[in-house]
Amino acid sequence: MSMLTGLMSCDIGIDLGTANILIYVRGEGIVVNEPSIVSVESKTRHVLAVGHEAKEMVGRTPGEIVTVRPLREGVIADFEVTEEMLRTLLRRVIKNRFLVRPRIVVGVPSGITEVEKRAVRLSAERVNAREVYLVGEPMAGAIGVGINVHEPVGSMIIDIGGGTSEIAVIALSGIVNGATSIRIGGDKLDDAIVQYLKKNYNILIGERTAEEIKKEIGSACKLDEELETQIKGRDLVAAIPRTITVSSVEIRDALAEPLNAITEAVMLSLERTPPEVAADILDRGIILTGGGALLRGLDRRLRDETNLPVHVAEDPLTCVVRGTGKILENIAAYRKVLF
Ligand SMILES: Nc1ncnc2c1ncn2[C@@H]1O[C@H](COP(=O)(O)OP(=O)(O)O)[C@@H](O)[C@H]1O
Ligand SMILES: [Mg+2]
Repeated sequence: MSMLTGLMSCDIGIDLGTANILIYVRGEGIVVNEPSIVSVESKTRHVLAVGHEAKEMVGRTPGEIVTVRPLREGVIADFEVTEEMLRTLLRRVIKNRFLVRPRIVVGVPSGITEVEKRAVRLSAERVNAREVYLVGEPMAGAIGVGINVHEPVGSMIIDIGGGTSEIAVIALSGIVNGATSIRIGGDKLDDAIVQYLKKNYNILIGERTAEEIKKEIGSACKLDEELETQIKGRDLVAAIPRTITVSSVEIRDALAEPLNAITEAVMLSLERTPPEVAADILDRGIILTGGGALLRGLDRRLRDETNLPVHVAEDPLTCVVRGTGKILENIAAYRKVLF
């Protein structure tokens, strides 16, 4: 019977990120990769669109529609909308796929509260999950990267997402000395660009434009060839649209404060690492995951500050969900890392 169940059911892994939500189906791979954004009717809170479709609406909605990022700062700011988002995407996945109720592994921020855990669990149960397991994002990321988390050898993972950056040293299926989670991630970098342009150019841009600038010319340390881009925004004095040109040097200046905060958190976490484990990290280096790892020169910057080897994971945006996928392959072997 259990063999039969294995044949007919498909298990699901979810990365419930503050910026992106990814869903993995065992045997198939990643089937959903969408921004964690929902557009709702302001009066009724009725959900109109989820994911890419909702992201297109950001900053362009008429008064009666608002776009919400329900997981904004790494905590579930809006339970109902989070649940609706999860349910909409899961329904899309489950439709015509499963004969038996699926098992679900969800990667969640390590700073999640008990109440939030219960909310995530309930949402998954409401889409008819048979069993629901939660795993901390840095742990799932480490597993996704291919680290043997059961070994008695320590590895440091830094996951830089939209709302938070999480730093964890993993060994023996656990997190050594507790994970550090700060509410500074890609969103704060975007905000810093908005503020910089307002202050220095009197020009107002939206957060989507700021994110595009960050990806296009953002950096964490000096580049061999500095870059430039044109920016369209609204002039705050003349109140009309205007185009300006900014350089990667200026954007780096804009990003200095949040990047310093991330670096400081890494240094603090290293200070708290027991000496034996510190020696492991010296051998193996630090691994960067999450979309923020793609910022130009961030690895070099951290290498310079820590004097440790720093590697950007392959495909950093999908490490966590791939980790949940690996857990699904053998839940019994990963019991210890699951909440
Ligand atoms: N090429 C890039 N350079 C800099 N930041 C990036 C790049 N690509 C994505 N990001 C940022 O990564 C963040 C999303 O990462 P992700 O790991 O999906 O976050 P979360 O786990 O919180 O959903 C966003 O802030 C996004 O702007
Ligand atoms: Mg993440």
